[in-house]
Amino acid sequence: MIRTIVIPLAALVSLTGCLRDDPVPTLPDVVVGSCRATNPFSKLEECRDYVGAWTEKQAADDCAPQQLEGKRAEFKLGTRCSYPAVLGYCILGGNGVFTRIHLPGDQASACASTERGCEVFGGGLFDPAPVCGGLVTEGGGTGLPTYQPPVLVCKDPLPGEAAGKSANGQVCSWSMISGATEPGRDFEQYSDCNIVRTQRPYYAAPTNADATRDDPRLNDPAYKAEIDWMKKEITATACVCCHKTTAPQGASNWYVDQPGNFINGFYDRGLAMGAGWINTVGFGAYPPEQNNGFSRATPERPDDSIFVTTDPARMKRFFEAELAYRGKTKADFAGQVYGAGPLDDQRFYVPNACENGEGVDSSGKLTWLGGNARYVYVMAKGTRSPGVAPNLDLPEGVIWRLDVPPTAKQGLASGSVTYGVTPEAAAQKFPAQGSPAALVNGSEYYLYVLQDIAFPATRCVFTYRAP
Ligand code: HEC
Repeated sequence: MIRTIVIPLAALVSLTGCLRDDPVPTLPDVVVGSCRATNPFSKLEECRDYVGAWTEKQAADDCAPQQLEGKRAEFKLGTRCSYPAVLGYCILGGNGVFTRIHLPGDQASACASTERGCEVFGGGLFDPAPVCGGLVTEGGGTGLPTYQPPVLVCKDPLPGEAAGKSANGQVCSWSMISGATEPGRDFEQYSDCNIVRTQRPYYAAPTNADATRDDPRLNDPAYKAEIDWMKKEITATACVCCHKTTAPQGASNWYVDQPGNFINGFYDRGLAMGAGWINTVGFGAYPPEQNNGFSRATPERPDDSIFVTTDPARMKRFFEAELAYRGKTKADFAGQVYGAGPLDDQRFYVPNACENGEGVDSSGKLTWLGGNARYVYVMAKGTRSPGVAPNLDLPEGVIWRLDVPPTAKQGLASGSVTYGVTPEAAAQKFPAQGSPAALVNGSEYYLYVLQDIAFPATRCVFTYRAP
């Protein structure tokens, strides 16, 4: 996780000299257990996650002497803390062994004392939630972490696992939402979930009601075999970065390691995306030959599942059967044609004429509105609007594209870019080599500028006038 900690101004004024400004460390994904207890000093409830290399016994022993409203503190193995609202987190520890204390609350007036309790009395580092001024921003004002493009992560097989299919027996897996490792392996172990979790908003979200109920269908060996196959497929894909209890802030909606039958955690809409009844092309996909044999819905195969799978037909069948079990038919989703929300809006966006000086002027200077830009495209008029990587972000008709790497603190400012000249802070993504085609006097072009992936700044058509 990448986050900048913004200490609220009010807190700075009242606590000058007391605060620590060390960066909050990046915590491991593993949560061994959690302990809900009353803080003996503040008398307020809090809950700590045991993060990283704790043993289960160490975690249980740490929790045992604590109290919750006069009774024994509540220890839960393998489960992270969860409050509907927190002021922030107090992080203690180091060297791979951390305690992350969730501090419940939603009143900004409690921020200063909470931070002081953590840092001055507790010796920890306070990681504020937005209510206390914490902003996850390096993305230049999008309010979210900067999108990190996928990288092909290659690793030696884990001890006891077979050699990988890539050069030197390595296992190579794209760190991308639509990525997968080799079948039967665990994506979390082989790729990089910290990158994946920047690629769409990540937060914990509840499952469908009564999801952990006993499900007698699991006693049917044929049904159980399908569930086990599903879990194996999902474990090999990037979905586990957010849809598993190991996700750092908790699982998003359904999760593959849910007790009982995990499919009962899905809402009907999620199942319909699984069946391909709602079109999920907008989420992007790799061709199977670049993705260890896994694929999902693409413009060429729009009725495939949102799930990344080695067997698209079996995946669809599984979800169709599940929908039938819930008494749902295709007609129930007739109003929901496309499932990718803002990504579809972007993909289907049709630009209007530029206004207010947006475009490329005769000196070659690019002007846009809407903030600094991490992605800049100049395209032929009529080019369809770009969507997400890896298969929708470079449509036919792109003439020039610049990407600012996520390591750069901010994007390019309007007025700072000259057509065909790659600024130092950016990389030319298209053309792969050499200069872009010269703009033609009197021709129309589509200027498409993003603050960050999924955050458009300017999308409009301008007419180029040569000097
Ligand atoms: C970076 C985090 C993240 C990753 C990775 C991720 N998801 Fe999700 N997903 C979420 C969040 C958050 C929600 C719940 C809220 C929402 O629907 O926006 C969700 C919800 C869903 C839903 C339910 C949608 C609904 O309307 O009921 C489905 C289905 C789903 N995800 C499928 C997938 C699949 C398949 C993958 C992997 C290919 C995946 N997700 C990867 C974060 C993620």
